[in-house]
Amino acid sequence: MTIRVCIAGATGWAGSELARAIASAADLRLVAAVARKHAGQILGEVLGEPRLTGLIHASASYALANPCDVFVEYTKPDSAKSNIMTALEHGAHVVVGTSGLTDDDFAQIDALARKKRLGVLACGNFALTAALLQKFAETAARVIPQWEVIDYAHDDKVDAPSGTARELAFRLSKVRAPEPTIPLARTVGPPETRGATVSGTQVHSVRLPGYVIGVEIVFGMPDQRLTIRHDAGNSARPYVAGALIAIRKVDTLIGVHRGLDAVLDF
Ligand SMILES: NC(=O)c1ccc[n+]([C@@H]2O[C@H](COP(=O)([O-])OP(=O)(O)OC[C@H]3O[C@@H](n4cnc5c(N)ncnc54)[C@H](OP(=O)(O)O)[C@@H]3O)[C@@H](O)[C@H]2O)c1
Repeated sequence: MTIRVCIAGATGWAGSELARAIASAADLRLVAAVARKHAGQILGEVLGEPRLTGLIHASASYALANPCDVFVEYTKPDSAKSNIMTALEHGAHVVVGTSGLTDDDFAQIDALARKKRLGVLACGNFALTAALLQKFAETAARVIPQWEVIDYAHDDKVDAPSGTARELAFRLSKVRAPEPTIPLARTVGPPETRGATVSGTQVHSVRLPGYVIGVEIVFGMPDQRLTIRHDAGNSARPYVAGALIAIRKVDTLIGVHRGLDAVLDF
């Protein structure tokens, strides 16, 4: 059976790499794409991949006039939520790669997805090493009650913290709340220096030239420390394999699930 896919953001850095991989996958067919600058053009002509015959549309609602099984959201934080809601209204399962959505956004998306009996798989980071970091961090948090997260990205990344850091903080909040020795309210000096509180975790976002994407979680105990870190290089390749798994498995879910391991066995 062929899975019909629509990618929002198919001309972008991450979406175009995924679209090319879909062109090579026998069980997937890209039926439509969303992006503004190249709207009205065939995706394959823009990407130099003749097997991608779907048309690019300026909005998700136009693209979803073509029936699809899975809608992939890979645009920008300001358009992501409405694209996802539109896709659910059209009866498509959704894979979310875009960062910047909040826990509240996901709660609203979850309510609609459950009403429609559809799956939404949101992965702040589709890279396998990032999925492993999330899993190992959950294990560590069961044992160690104090941790902080540092999120590294290139200087022109508009959103902070990263989707990976948000997802990590959200997942750790389901394990336990961290127990800082000095509560934030008792900080002497500017409390902002202690980072932002995201789902109960202190998150520090570094945005500088020279970084691509990385996330680090540091667990501290008296006289010992555990650091778990994921770093990705310049290409969008690390995100492709995970996104393909998500597209193939999202129909096994109902409601919002965060993290690739929702569909991985480890
Ligand atoms: N989960 C992961 O593993 C992962 C990996 C990489 C990136 N990301 C995230 O994915 C998102 C995209 O990253 P990127 O680096 O691929 O960005 P990008 O290169 O700027 O691509 C964005 C794409 O979305 C389209 N777009 C942007 N705003 C739109 C709108 N309002 N309506 C319709 N189309 C719109 C753009 O085309 P037009 O400008 O022509 O509209 C382009 O095709 C970011 O949030 C990034 O943090 C996640």
